[in-house]
Amino acid sequence: MSARTRPITTIAGTRPFAFSEAALTECRTIMSRYPEGKSKSALIPILHIAQAENDGWLSVNAMDAVAQVMGLQHIEVYEVASFYSMFNLHPVGTYVLDVCRTTPCMLRGSDDLIAHLEKKLGVHCGETTTDGMFTLKGVECLGSCGTAPMLQCGAQFHEDLTIDKADALIEQLRARNSRTNYTDK
Ligand code: FES
Repeated sequence: MSARTRPITTIAGTRPFAFSEAALTECRTIMSRYPEGKSKSALIPILHIAQAENDGWLSVNAMDAVAQVMGLQHIEVYEVASFYSMFNLHPVGTYVLDVCRTTPCMLRGSDDLIAHLEKKLGVHCGETTTDGMFTLKGVECLGSCGTAPMLQCGAQFHEDLTIDKADALIEQLRARNSRTNYTDK
């Protein structure tokens, strides 16, 4: 997880966002698990729901809807969403590849892995392939240091990576071409 360097997307030009009824019910269920006045603790799971309902990223409209549902100031939502790398503040591809680049992964070759993926996909970290299939990101420790190097795609960890394993993963994801990887469930 890491602090962001890019500004959040402005509201202009982004499409309106509204939670589905099912998502709203889920949000309320999650908030009800916390004591009165402490429902802000539900912010991260609710941001995941908003992200899943907005094609894998959090527009200002989506974050504002989260603030409204939770009764929070907009800035309280922005500051959390902009801190954690699992939240995307810009449109993303079908698959988001979060490659860990913190020291244990770096010592086990994450720099080479990222360089290989950048070349293979024709993008730099933070960019999306022209076909909209992959977004490549370099992120900080994802808590799987014992199986470094690793990357996360959706809810799945891909560990003990080699260049060959990364290539096989890319081909497997291309063949699947499913937009279900945003959800953390
Ligand atoms: S350093 Fe990569 S998972 Fe911890």
